[in-house]
Amino acid sequence: MFTGKPLLLAPMAGISDRPFRRLAKKFGADLTVTEMVSAQGIVHQDRRTTDLLDLGGEPGPVITQIFGRDPEILRAAAQQAMAYGPAAIDINMGCPVKKIIKNGAGAALLKDLKQIKKILQALSRPPAIPYTLKIRSGWDHDQLVAGQVITLAAEFGALAVCCHPRTAKMMFSGRADWDYLEKIAAAAPLPVIGSGDLTTPEAAAAARRRPGIAALMLGRGTWGRPWLFREVKEFLRTGRQLPPLAPREKLAIIEEHWRLLRQDKGEKIGFLLFRKHLAWYSHGLPGAAAFRRQLFATGSYPELAALTTAFFGGRS
Ligand SMILES: Cc1cc2nc3c(=O)[nH]c(=O)nc-3n(C[C@H](O)[C@H](O)[C@H](O)COP(=O)(O)O)c2cc1C
Repeated sequence: MFTGKPLLLAPMAGISDRPFRRLAKKFGADLTVTEMVSAQGIVHQDRRTTDLLDLGGEPGPVITQIFGRDPEILRAAAQQAMAYGPAAIDINMGCPVKKIIKNGAGAALLKDLKQIKKILQALSRPPAIPYTLKIRSGWDHDQLVAGQVITLAAEFGALAVCCHPRTAKMMFSGRADWDYLEKIAAAAPLPVIGSGDLTTPEAAAAARRRPGIAALMLGRGTWGRPWLFREVKEFLRTGRQLPPLAPREKLAIIEEHWRLLRQDKGEKIGFLLFRKHLAWYSHGLPGAAAFRRQLFATGSYPELAALTTAFFGGRS
């Protein structure tokens, strides 16, 4: 799964849903990861939670990400999630958001290597579950544990570890420390996927050249730009930048995104979710600030569609 330095779409809560994953695949993502799904919610068969596990026949491979703290709950949830056909289960050990860490899950696990070991033990028990981990470099700069977690993960048979080299304390401030990541990746006994600030083809190409980096994950750079995968692949292949998309080409992608979203979530919820994507699609175009103000004042999809067609379609 991690040969040939694949490009992955990052797991992003509220963003990496089925429609967005499909778009990412269409533009060249080799692998996608779902939004994080609660392990508790899975084992309690909460319907909204289990809906997130449904891969809806999307082109594979997809990795399903779950979060939690209890080793047995994580194992049971992983087994249930595997029934939906993902290539593997990813365990979230990097989310720094309060709602997650207050229960000791996500990045809070990076403060407790013993708990991580128990989770890995549970996951590797036969019948083994194919799994990966997603971590940050550590809780804070005094506890940079990514190297230790990677060693443990390799010992317990993880397929790969994805590291976003910021500490949990940093949230999204500062910069991802790719020099640190390279140091631990070069010595790692399993594939290391790098995540963080890969928002341009050049940044992705530079990260790909670093020793030990087995795969790259694109996150925020794909917002309003799911074709970033195509741009990165073209740059890696030819060293050339693709010309920026014309607004009308963007409009065609926007329309496809809307079709996928409406089909998946229905018009009412789709509409609410779509406005943020439209705001991102408008980024950098003249008049975008006014467009965004109008966008968030609309109350229905037809209104939104008229505004969008006028904004993107009325340009050459
Ligand atoms: C809005 C948002 C939601 C995210 N949700 C998740 C998540 O559910 N699971 C996870 O492991 N990481 C999550 N992340 C982190 C990303 O997967 C990624 O590691 C991080 O954003 C750094 O990459 P980037 O600079 O390319 O965005 C999220 C990030 C953002 C900005």
